[in-house]
Amino acid sequence: MLIIKNIHTLAGIDESGRTRRQGKDMAETGILYDAYLKIDDGRIAGYGTMDNLVNDEGCEVTDAEGGCVLPAWCDSHTHIVYGGSREGEFVDKINGLSYAEIARRGGGILNSAELLHNMSEDELYRQAMCRVREIAAKGTGCVEIKSGYGLNIDDELKMLRVIRRISETCPLRVVPTFLGAHAVGRGYTKEEYVDEVVCEMIPEVGRERLADFIDVFCDDGFFTPADTVRILEAGEKWGMVPKIHADELAASGGVEAGVRCGALSVDHLESMDDREMAFLNGASTMPTVLPGTSFFLNMPYANARGMIDSGLGVAVASDYNPGSTPSGDMKFAVSLACIKMRLLPVEAINAATVNGAYAMGLSNEYGTIGMGKRANIIITSQIPSINYIPYAYTSPIVKKVLFEGKEWI
Ligand code: NIG
Ligand code: FE
Repeated sequence: MLIIKNIHTLAGIDESGRTRRQGKDMAETGILYDAYLKIDDGRIAGYGTMDNLVNDEGCEVTDAEGGCVLPAWCDSHTHIVYGGSREGEFVDKINGLSYAEIARRGGGILNSAELLHNMSEDELYRQAMCRVREIAAKGTGCVEIKSGYGLNIDDELKMLRVIRRISETCPLRVVPTFLGAHAVGRGYTKEEYVDEVVCEMIPEVGRERLADFIDVFCDDGFFTPADTVRILEAGEKWGMVPKIHADELAASGGVEAGVRCGALSVDHLESMDDREMAFLNGASTMPTVLPGTSFFLNMPYANARGMIDSGLGVAVASDYNPGSTPSGDMKFAVSLACIKMRLLPVEAINAATVNGAYAMGLSNEYGTIGMGKRANIIITSQIPSINYIPYAYTSPIVKKVLFEGKEWI
């Protein structure tokens, strides 16, 4: 048994059994001041105020020294397995080319596919693990990782095997997603490529059980809603749950297609209009916003404020990838959600914890402080309140991160 003592603010407490927060509930979180937290066998085994802490004999004790404790970040959208980097395109963008223009010239995703094709599985794993360590140190405890820089069957399988190896060798909870339909692979027409995804890739990914989720980049210039539905339905036959890229570049019908297919989340939404947003009412689909992408691409931000005001829940994720968001810093994403999307700090923290866990199908075990939940938590340095976390938008406030009660790095 481990006891963490002298916690200034224990935040994210929830024993209600809810799996996500929506609308006005997003501004609420369970809080205890001057608290302790008990962890047993990797799970939360008790908590309360310090004046009620009895009998810590025989327990390992950690002193939080007046820091705050909250659930570790649940980053429900990343592409952290990739080879090399794309800072050349960063300069192209500064010189005025748009993301879509760079993609049309064969840069973008196809550029990463080329780099990945020429890299061994071991080297890809090594590079990806550097990023995993980086986000772990910044407080991410659960992470979804997508394929999608393979764009042919061998390279997609290579990526998914690297994701599996990461999940077997790091203490973060890793959720794998098959994103074969990220762009049309070199040498295929779009029709040929969609056939390849549906008839060759999905059955092999399914047979090897390499992915829990299936994703499609449903957007102008990439895959249409009709392609998306076909691919998602093929994935579902192998037990892969839809979770898609929608309405990043244009309101192109991705939200409607995702909700119709029972997607667990629809992600990006920078260009979502009211018509698309209406499909989310009453749906089990979690709209997921990626403020780091808008920041880096200098694009409009998704209307997360409007979604919450209309009663929806929202998740915040990083989108860590080499093209549109070379950062997996969830604290910065939370700050951007506050500063650029006008979320309250508690709303943004809920979006990056409990709602992120929901968007990965993990909220029964992660994303909140509750009895029996996995003890993936952040212990901060001494800060005055949890509002300070997004406010101090570049200050490192993470003192320790525990994964099922244990430190990793
Ligand atoms: O989520 N939008 C599509 N995919 C990624 C970007 C991928 C890339 O540029 O490498 C995203 O932003
Ligand atoms: Fe993405």
